[in-house]
Amino acid sequence: MRTQVGIIGAGPAGLVLSHLLHLQGIESVVLENRSRQYCEERVRAGVLEQGTVDLLCQTGVGERLKREGLVHGGIELRFGGKGHRIDFRELTGGKTITIYGQSEVLKDLTDARLAAGGQVYFEVEDVSVHDFDRTKPKIRFRKAGKVEELTCDFIGGCDGFHGICRPAISKSLTVYEREYPFGCLGILAEAPPSSEELIYAYHERGFALLSMRSPQLSRLYIQSAPDEDIHQWPDERIWKELHTRLESTEGWRLIEGPVMQKGVTGMRSFVVEPMQSGNLFLAGDAAHIVPPTGAKGLNLAVSDVRVLALALAEFYKQGNRDLLNQYSETCLNRVWKVQRFSWWMTSMLHLFPDASPFDQKRQMAELDYVTSSRAGAQTLAENYVGLPMDQPT
Ligand code: FAD
Ligand code: DHB
Repeated sequence: MRTQVGIIGAGPAGLVLSHLLHLQGIESVVLENRSRQYCEERVRAGVLEQGTVDLLCQTGVGERLKREGLVHGGIELRFGGKGHRIDFRELTGGKTITIYGQSEVLKDLTDARLAAGGQVYFEVEDVSVHDFDRTKPKIRFRKAGKVEELTCDFIGGCDGFHGICRPAISKSLTVYEREYPFGCLGILAEAPPSSEELIYAYHERGFALLSMRSPQLSRLYIQSAPDEDIHQWPDERIWKELHTRLESTEGWRLIEGPVMQKGVTGMRSFVVEPMQSGNLFLAGDAAHIVPPTGAKGLNLAVSDVRVLALALAEFYKQGNRDLLNQYSETCLNRVWKVQRFSWWMTSMLHLFPDASPFDQKRQMAELDYVTSSRAGAQTLAENYVGLPMDQPT
């Protein structure tokens, strides 16, 4: 087998990359070790930045997103039982975010790739990368039990945090990492969202978040221990905790419904530098992880591959490697700003186990500042809707 770009992973990074390359007339093959159904049923991200929405719409995969996505012009920060709205439209010159599940993004992209004759292989096994420091990198894998070798010009390492691409180049990487002393317990509930917009709540028992997937589906989170045993959390206990942490003195009510899915994830900030080695390029969670507060993971994956697709197009059209050589630097500029924002939102809204009374007073003052000063609110708003997409220099 032979292609121009071999892509490992059919998550947002891999599929958007394959789609953008196709639009530039560049051929790719996507190799994914899970089934299509598994990828599309996994409950993950739900908030799309304005730039992500624009990119999907402008490249022809935004039809359903435009029809079914919920456009939000702000979020609420809730503390001391009171809500404070951050008005994105007003603070960012009209920008918004859109609620549209990652699973829906993946369905739309997979449909588009297959309809265009794209090669996306699910349930491949034993994927490994070879010769990526030479001109003809190779990817070996098994498909339906048969060993295959894919020769390509470049490899897109879009295989997420637990993939094989980053370990393959680990010798040349520097790792920057922070683990948080808490986790995130999330549920998906068959209940109409209790608020039109997302609510981020700071409470003395810990952080809580009300989000949604559709007018019938709520997505809710509470701060938990990093290794929280989900079996200790029957649905009633989760709802009780949500009621307490989201409580309001303003007559607001939390609507309950059957819990369809629940799970705990650890929280970490993680970056490797550089994001490339020879002809292998890492993108998305394969290169970096942000804590979920701030909803940036999927959006960052999309902005990486946008940079990569432009650089590959420049190479195939002009024979010029400059943009490819700058790929890591261009991406990391945005990655670190998004890391900073995600760390800041997480630190402002979570209860740290070792927080002193001083720390808690400072945290309340920060929330008060962010919600009462236009400058404070604006810095949150411009980061939340998404910083401008980086242009390579
Ligand atoms: P992934 O989506 O992880 O895709 C990588 C793909 O590669 C996977 O399909 C995987 O099966 C495949 N793969 C792995 N190893 C191999 C291999 N050896 N061979 C072949 N294929 C392989 N982000 C947000 O922006 N907003 C949110 O609200 C949000 N909520 C989240 C909630 C949860 C519970 C989790 C876990 C994540 C959340 N994220 C959120 C993060 C977001 O989902 C990720 O940042 C995003 O999926 C990254 O996309 P990716 O394509 O880089 O990686
Ligand atoms: C969602 C998750 C987040 O961590 C966040 O900050 C916003 C939304 C979500 O899953 O909907």
